[in-house]
Parts: sequence; structure tokens; C-alpha cells
Amino acid sequence: MIDLIDKQKLPRHVAIIMDGNGRWAKERGKDRLFGHQHGVISVREVVEGCAEIGIEYLTLYAFSTENWNRPESEVKGLMELLVATIRKEAESLHRNGVKLHVIGDLQSLPEACVDELNEAMAITAGNTTLNLILALSYSSKWEIVDAARKIAHKVITGELTEAEINEDAFKQCLATAEFPDPELMIRTSGEHRISNFLLFQLAYAELYFTHTHWPDFRKENLYEAVLNYQNRERRFGKISEQLRKEA
Ligand code: IPE
Ligand code: IPE
Ligand code: MG
Repeated sequence: MIDLIDKQKLPRHVAIIMDGNGRWAKERGKDRLFGHQHGVISVREVVEGCAEIGIEYLTLYAFSTENWNRPESEVKGLMELLVATIRKEAESLHRNGVKLHVIGDLQSLPEACVDELNEAMAITAGNTTLNLILALSYSSKWEIVDAARKIAHKVITGELTEAEINEDAFKQCLATAEFPDPELMIRTSGEHRISNFLLFQLAYAELYFTHTHWPDFRKENLYEAVLNYQNRERRFGKISEQLRKEA
């Protein structure tokens, strides 16, 4: 399938809502954490898959602000899994040229998590093959409100005038300021919703939904999504004929 992908028409940025770990585990008569543990294999797969075809940015929604409301034992298990996974994978991410970034309300994460993440980000800071962005304790409404606060601060301090507030100035205040917007958003496990993920940045993204549960998601599934993306016409408000003339 990888041979069918047009390298000239790749999305620069792919964002994924990794969903369905719990249902995957339940189908096997196991507890939800078993599903999360297996989800780590899929993360490895998509990171490798993106690097292989030349995608520059991959954002993974790993833990939402709303996920703090899950049972305490699941939240604790997820945080422990995160720490253990980052510790185990940092070196191999580095060897493969992956630069790690994190977006989200990091202050709400346990200290051990933040330490591990900071270390991994420092180790991989100089890499350029693939930018891997983990959305952790992330919610888009939180991010947008936070950006509004930053804009207000800039106006108060005189760094920005009211007239200078435009899309670009606003983007600069989002957690994703240094990344291009995703062209392709994938959600696994059959749910058709955004769940508070990158609301501003996904404005013109192509959305791809699959019934595959996250722990079953492999490189081939990623390639299938990219191929599907490449067969769509992205019009950005224009009409087909205009696009053909521009091409
Ligand atoms: C996604 O799988 C992982 C996280 C949200 C952390 P879920 O845990 O949401 O699995 P389902 O949706 O209950 O099957
Ligand atoms: C979205 O999945 C968050 C992550 C994948 C981290 P959820 O499973 O939490 O979303 P809802 O609650 O079904 O919308
Ligand atoms: Mg879910």
C-alpha cells in the first residue's frame, strides 16, 4: 500500500484521536489498562509509519482534560504507563530522529510525568525527521481561553494593539504556535466527534474515521488513511473549476 502513496501530496501534519482502548480490552475480557498498554504498540507503529513516508508532524491525543474525570485507578494507571513508556522509548525516538513536543496543561500532570517528559524533550531537541506532539491534559477550549488571556496580557503590556489582533497573532498564542495546522485528522474506534481536540487548528482538516480500535491500528491503517486523504478534493471554499485552473 505504501507504494500507492503520492509523496508530492502528503499531509505535512497528521493528528490522531487514539480511541477504543477500553472497548478493545473489554472484547478480550480484560481490564481497560490492558487496552492502554497495547495502545503503546500502535503509537510505535504510527511514529515509524509517519517517519517512513515523510510526514513532518504527528499529534497524538493521549489524555484529555475531561479524562481526569475517569475512575482514579484508570487515571493513575495511565499516568504510570505514560512515565514508563517515555522512559523506555526516549532513546529509540532519538535514534530515529524524532523530536518530542507536548501540548496541554502540564501543571496538572504528576511531577514524575513532567520530569520524564522534560528529559525526553531535551534529549530529542535537535532532531528533525519527525515532530511528535503529545496532547496531554489537553483540551481545545482550555487552549483557546488561554490564548485569549495571553492576547489580553500583550495588549495590557503594549506588545500588541487591539487593531493588531488577527488570525496570525491569535495562532501565535496557541500551544501549537510552532506547528502547521493538521491537514488530516484520524479518529479510531467508530466515534464521530472531536472531543475537544484542536478545534481552531482543524478548521480545514480532512476528517477520517475508522472502526478499528486503537490497539489494532497499524502502519497499513495509517497508509490507508493517507491514501483516502489524497483522493479528496480540498476546495477551501472555492469551486472545482478554479482549483483545476490553479493546478
Ligand atoms: C482512548 O481509549 C485512550 C484514552 C482516552 C486515554 P478509551 O480509553 O477512550 O477507550 P474506549 O473509548 O473506552 O473504548
Ligand atoms: C478522546 O477520547 C480523548 C483521547 C483520545 C485522549 P475519549 O474516549 O475520552 O472521548 P469521548 O469521551 O468518548 O468523547
Ligand atoms: Mg474513548
